[in-house]
Amino acid sequence: MTVKRPAPGDLEPIETASRDEITALQIQRLRATLQRAYDNVPHYRKAFDAKGVHPDDLKSLGDLSKFPFTVKSDLRDNYPFGMFAVPREKIARIHASSGTTGKPTVVGYTLKDIDTWADLVARSIRAAGGRPGDMVHVSYGYGLFTGGLGAHYGAERAGCTVIPMSGGQTEKQVQLIQDFRPDIIMVTPSYMQVIIEQFERQGLDAKDSSLKVGIFGAEPWTEAMRRDIEAKAGIDAVDIYGLSEVMGPGVASECVESKDGPVIWEDHFYPEIIDPESGELKADGEEGELVFTSLSKEAMPIVRYRTRDLTRLLAPTSRSFRRMGKIVGRSDDMMIIRGVNVFPTQVEEIVLAHSALTGLYQVRVSREGLLDQVEVHCELTPHEAAAADRSAISDWVQHRVKTLIGISARVVVHGPDEMERTQTGKARRVIDTRPR
Ligand code: DLL
Repeated sequence: MTVKRPAPGDLEPIETASRDEITALQIQRLRATLQRAYDNVPHYRKAFDAKGVHPDDLKSLGDLSKFPFTVKSDLRDNYPFGMFAVPREKIARIHASSGTTGKPTVVGYTLKDIDTWADLVARSIRAAGGRPGDMVHVSYGYGLFTGGLGAHYGAERAGCTVIPMSGGQTEKQVQLIQDFRPDIIMVTPSYMQVIIEQFERQGLDAKDSSLKVGIFGAEPWTEAMRRDIEAKAGIDAVDIYGLSEVMGPGVASECVESKDGPVIWEDHFYPEIIDPESGELKADGEEGELVFTSLSKEAMPIVRYRTRDLTRLLAPTSRSFRRMGKIVGRSDDMMIIRGVNVFPTQVEEIVLAHSALTGLYQVRVSREGLLDQVEVHCELTPHEAAAADRSAISDWVQHRVKTLIGISARVVVHGPDEMERTQTGKARRVIDTRPR
């Protein structure tokens, strides 16, 4: 593997700007964002007023900590379009991701937001070593999920040839990689492993493919996984981070020459790390919950959004911006199953909607080979048990889990009192035995 170092001209001036220049830009953009949110989004006006702060109170970056946090339930409470700061007609695109209940979290973009997003994913692709003329195979899902279209627009913006393959159809993924000879693949790391396995199944060695770089994200992955994929596919594997509430992929992305954690594109997103319990700010280098404020978004400015992702802020290396460490976990109970965000509460809503089932449930996630396997366990109420058709109930739950949450699960319907009761008061809703 030859690691490409950026040539002069590959980088935008802001990527190598002085810290003072970056700070000045951040303050200016932060003020505009707070004002835009306050003037146009009733939720922010109410939340700022309740805390007794006004956009004018921001004189330095440190003043941001006086402003209230935004959490996922704020987006749900303003479902679907209440967080938008522009009239609906100015929204060029909607994306959505799983919420903690049946309602998805909805995000919107103006044309200018989509333009900025494309620029930042293009910057991420360049950081990964991609150059105009390269061919990019996109296996992130296209649709309401931000992965596919986010990667797609960025690859086009970077001057690449894009193959909008989307997820699934693993045999075809391999065939197109063999026939079209792409340089770069953008996909979740767990699905990359499935693709590598498919190469082997077809009697091929992924190391012999045309691929040179993989840009992997949308779920946590480890250094061990990086080494495994790099060795098996003969590529450089870099980490791309993002979340729909803040934009989508490309909030931060890793440089191939250093592979030392995603560089946060700090000219567009201001990061903070807080103690997830107290909400107090933590110093750079300390682990806590990552919080983002958007600096340039028009349609949906977001102020101090609590990502629930646990990590650290790290000093700049290959670029002038700070980096983030690998995500070490989440401060809520969201699971990422085959790239889909899943909350136990979504399963709870489904189970509770069936009159023959008690509210008791447990989600068991394991890994067989390379794929996540999901089992949903639920229990019949004593008075329905005799007459109940367990297989019909299981089909009913399975169908709703598939259509409402988007994952395939095996459903086990237990008889009355068969499921374990909590002794501590806290139900164990999730048993996740996947290797970390
Ligand atoms: O997963 C956006 C994305 C698409 C990022 C493609 C990278 C590549 P959501 O569906 O809203 O958006 O999920 C966001 O996924 O809060 C993290 O918990 C997790 N996540 C995303 N990227 C990474 C990563 C997209 N590189 C949630 N490492 C985030 C660890 C990640 N976790």
